[in-house]
Amino acid sequence: MIPICVRIDADDKRSFDALKLDGWREIEVLETYRGKPDAKHHDLIRRALDRDLLACIAIAEKAFTHDRLHADPNIPLAVATEAKAEWVRKCFADRSCAVFVYADPAIRGFIALKWIDDGALIDLIATNKPRQHICSRLVKHAMADLKPSYLRAGTQQKNQEGRLFYSALGMTCIKRQRTLHKP
Ligand SMILES: CC(C)(COP(=O)(O)OP(=O)(O)OC[C@H]1O[C@@H](n2cnc3c(N)ncnc32)[C@H](O)[C@@H]1OP(=O)(O)O)[C@@H](O)C(=O)NCCC(=O)NCCS
Repeated sequence: MIPICVRIDADDKRSFDALKLDGWREIEVLETYRGKPDAKHHDLIRRALDRDLLACIAIAEKAFTHDRLHADPNIPLAVATEAKAEWVRKCFADRSCAVFVYADPAIRGFIALKWIDDGALIDLIATNKPRQHICSRLVKHAMADLKPSYLRAGTQQKNQEGRLFYSALGMTCIKRQRTLHKP
């Protein structure tokens, strides 16, 4: 049901043409951001507990609409949405993944991060109350708690909010990759 995926440099026209001839479909462009946002603890942010899982899934099911599965017209919306829910479940189950929630006390947002070398990768980040500085506080709290030497994150070129968000955190786009699916 989920198609296989390949990513190539967004400027690599030769590979792109060859893949298209081979039946691959262009889906989206993924941008990778890197930087070192400020570190600051926040009182309403804490490590996620097992009981926060359903609330985080509910946020993810509504918030993520630009990822490669949602962007693929061949994939039913329910399948793309369930894939994100499953991603959240995996983050909660994976003890090497650091998950923080913003709880006021209802869960308003969450961030999941993984270690990459001496840096951290934002695996997932979302809020159900946009433009209230919830996600920027989550990032800064994670920086203060985990103390990575740098932070990396990916977002789709079409995700204008995501791109502006990472730029506002002082992160810069270091890579653009085209995503293709087959069949
Ligand atoms: C992108 C997202 C994570 C931002 O979270 P947020 O809590 O709304 O962001 P913040 O309030 O902390 O915003 C911090 C700054 O980012 C920029 N920004 C964030 N959203 C913006 C938007 N929709 N338009 C313009 N600028 C925006 C602004 O500079 C903002 O500061 P300001 O409000 O003082 O101007 C949130 O919109 C979201 O959950 N999106 C769906 C999931 C997603 O796309 N995740 C990230 C990529 S995978």
